[in-house]
Amino acid sequence: MHDIIQQLEEKREQARQGGGQRRVEAQHKKGKLTARERIELLLDPGSFEEWDMFVEHRCTDFGMEDSKVAGDGVVTGHGTVNGRLVFVFSQDFTVFGGSLSASHAEKICKIMDRAVEVGAPVIGLNDSGGARIQEGVDSLAGYADVFLRNVMSSGVVPQISMIMGPCAGGAVYSPAMTDFIFMVQDTSYMFVTGPEVVKTVTGETVTQEELGGASTHTARSGVAARAFENDVDALLQLRRFIDFIPSSNREKPPVWPSEDSPERLDMSLDTLVPDNANKPYDMKELINKVVDEGDFFEIMPDYAKNIIVGFGRMEGSTVGFVANQPMVLAGCLDINSATKGARFVRFCDAFNIPIVTFVDVPGFLPGTAQEYGGIIKHGAKLLYAFAEATVPKVTLITRKAYGGAYDVMSSKHLRGDVNYAWPSAEIAVMGPKGAVEIIFRQDIGDDEKIAARTEEYRKRFANPFVAGHRGFVDDVIMPHGTRRRICRSLKMLQNKKQENPWRKHGNIPL
Ligand code: HXC
Repeated sequence: MHDIIQQLEEKREQARQGGGQRRVEAQHKKGKLTARERIELLLDPGSFEEWDMFVEHRCTDFGMEDSKVAGDGVVTGHGTVNGRLVFVFSQDFTVFGGSLSASHAEKICKIMDRAVEVGAPVIGLNDSGGARIQEGVDSLAGYADVFLRNVMSSGVVPQISMIMGPCAGGAVYSPAMTDFIFMVQDTSYMFVTGPEVVKTVTGETVTQEELGGASTHTARSGVAARAFENDVDALLQLRRFIDFIPSSNREKPPVWPSEDSPERLDMSLDTLVPDNANKPYDMKELINKVVDEGDFFEIMPDYAKNIIVGFGRMEGSTVGFVANQPMVLAGCLDINSATKGARFVRFCDAFNIPIVTFVDVPGFLPGTAQEYGGIIKHGAKLLYAFAEATVPKVTLITRKAYGGAYDVMSSKHLRGDVNYAWPSAEIAVMGPKGAVEIIFRQDIGDDEKIAARTEEYRKRFANPFVAGHRGFVDDVIMPHGTRRRICRSLKMLQNKKQENPWRKHGNIPL
């Protein structure tokens, strides 16, 4: 028995070595941790249960039968993050460049299947040269097996990708179908075709970083939700992120003890909105002052900054925040912000996370770039997402709520459960100046008349009371009491039940 135990230990030790000392050192030299070091940092100490440590590839081409490494380039299993179960796969770049073989794919599929059955998130730590070239179509089949599971798991368990090295070719499509892609600055990249192919086909000269680095995907393409400074920062932030999200669509969001009283007032909010309606203010200040302990995890902070989305907590329980940002493009909705908002709203709705919406929106961004780019269909995504969402929805209009954008931003008409307005709210088809220039066109040129008409319009519509008379806002609230009012509304809504009509699936404009 002793010998067998000894043998087991030796085999385990061998598997832990991955691709060997030289390759591990090369990995460290690039500023990257190994697959196992990453898992250690991500999971609670001692909680990792590894599966399939002894799995090997079955390839016999190109001399591969003599080159086998236990585990075959991916470490898989389950463990806990702050006591909550997660499944994880961590690609080992030191073994065949973390490339995906049939066996490697089977290991990933195994944990994905189990995650759906027990209802726990799947976290992928991606660091891979893509399809295992020696395996040909077997590797492509392996990818497709993973893709299929990504789709089947979508909306059932949260799926999170942390890109920590190369991710190229069709391999990008597994992360692309997960709920959130995070990246590590300077050491990770994602692209469908690399710089050499780009050069050949389009003649463009571009570096890996420019083409698919973290800054490209967080600020330009909107593929990635956020980037972190290095592996350690990324994994610690990932732990923080996991604390916000439910484990599956069968669960409510986790509740963490909070010292922050739901009754807390914030007098500074009474002066957040400037007297001049054209002056911007920072909507993030409102979010930070309303959430428990000012703890807000922003998603896509560097992309479409005219809308803010992210997770916070109210009375310890996760809430998704969607807010127009008057500091950028005056808070207008455009193609990118509508897409960003819609995807976030749909994640929240799929995973039972209540949505709090802060509205200060002068409308949709005008212009040929937007129209040619399809603002009609992209803007409709946000409208569709808010309308179909059945989770508790609390909306607060802080200032402008003009035109179609008023309807879109979780209005009463799209089944907003509780809709508040601050006294500074202006709810109308458009701003006073534009409105007067249309309906009193005959008076243009007569400044006095126009000024009088504008004042008349402002008095009539630049307030929340017309909407209040009709019950489109449930109450006009004092800014300093915002947290208290939202907490009470969310508590009232905690057992909300609402169902959409049966259908195979809706047809959101894509
Ligand atoms: C097998 C691979 C590999 C791969 C890397 N390696 N990629 N082995 N299949 N796809 C091996 C290398 O042979 C090397 O082995 C080790 O991993 C490290 O690779 P290096 O090239 O030395 O590392 P580095 O210089 O850091 O470059 C990393 C890299 C490069 C940029 C990822 O390796 C590369 O370009 N690889 C090929 C990428 C690729 O074209 N993949 C297919 C994409 S298409 P040794 O033994 O020397 O350590 C795809 C389709 C998916 O993935 C389709 C899904 C539908």
